[in-house]
Amino acid sequence: MDLEALERVIAEKGADKISFVRMEATTNLIGGQPFSMENLKAVSEIAHKNHLLLVIDCSLISENAFFIKTREAGFSEKSIPEIIQEMLQQADLIYMSGRKSTMARGGMICTNDEKIYHEILPLVPVFEGFITYGGMSTKEIEAMAVGLREMVDFNVAGSGAEMINFFTNRLISLGVPVVTPPGGLGCHVDAIKFLPHLSQTEYPAGALAAAFYIVSGCRGMERGTLSMDRDKNGKEEVSDMELMRLAVPRRSFTMSQIEFAADRLAWLYQHRNLVHGLKWIEEPPVLRFFLGKLTSIDGWENSLTEAIKSDSRMN
Ligand SMILES: Cc1ncc(COP(=O)(O)O)c(C=O)c1O
Repeated sequence: MDLEALERVIAEKGADKISFVRMEATTNLIGGQPFSMENLKAVSEIAHKNHLLLVIDCSLISENAFFIKTREAGFSEKSIPEIIQEMLQQADLIYMSGRKSTMARGGMICTNDEKIYHEILPLVPVFEGFITYGGMSTKEIEAMAVGLREMVDFNVAGSGAEMINFFTNRLISLGVPVVTPPGGLGCHVDAIKFLPHLSQTEYPAGALAAAFYIVSGCRGMERGTLSMDRDKNGKEEVSDMELMRLAVPRRSFTMSQIEFAADRLAWLYQHRNLVHGLKWIEEPPVLRFFLGKLTSIDGWENSLTEAIKSDSRMN
């Protein structure tokens, strides 16, 4: 978190107009980058000085803790559970998608603050399910309990990060532009550098994900302008970054699958001029990246498909 920007926004908007300050461990839209304990504590101080709640998205908390242990001075001797506890002591409320660090379907919201607990309580049956199970099956709650114990094992916490590190470095050696240092969620390809001939309103990260699927069958996720909504006048809000996320969940891929993806991405980089932009067929007004439909601006996918089919290495 840019601390100066945070203070400036609070001063400009007024703390009474802000519901909460949120940190995401690790942060999706900037390439799965972690935050440091030092930064988190400074954010916590600013939030609490202004009587604002600090919320942490803990979906990849064990990965963030792994990076704090391995990269931040003073933490190498601390265990992952100790680091997670120190992180979470800064927060008023935490929530987590169990699909990432705990490898279970479902999620949780936790707080030590009884006032917040009683505010949330009546909403749980309305939106999730009764308070004892929150819409999840017992089997899934048990799986999440196992996942919570496993995720704090140093080797488990670092296993995704190590594979992402390998994948990212392999792509760097092949000349493919990626976000560095490697983060915690996946390997993130820089679509602005990959497809410099596209403008951001042609959705370079979305076009890259579509092209990569055609040449490899691997599904990447657009994290850029497509993932933003238009402003209230319908004007496109271009994103600060245009990334294709290649998520690397732990215990999911073999090394040869990673090598395959890297090889196909390097091929695509050499043929990047064949990739052009995308345009909307159906554009929902909110969260358009979930349900919207797009097509290529000029049928470029046909020449890309021809090129990969006719490459002798691929036959
Ligand atoms: C950081 C983060 N938080 C929350 C979610 C939402 O997860 P779910 O679909 O399990 O609710 C995601 C999904 O990708 C995520 O990456």
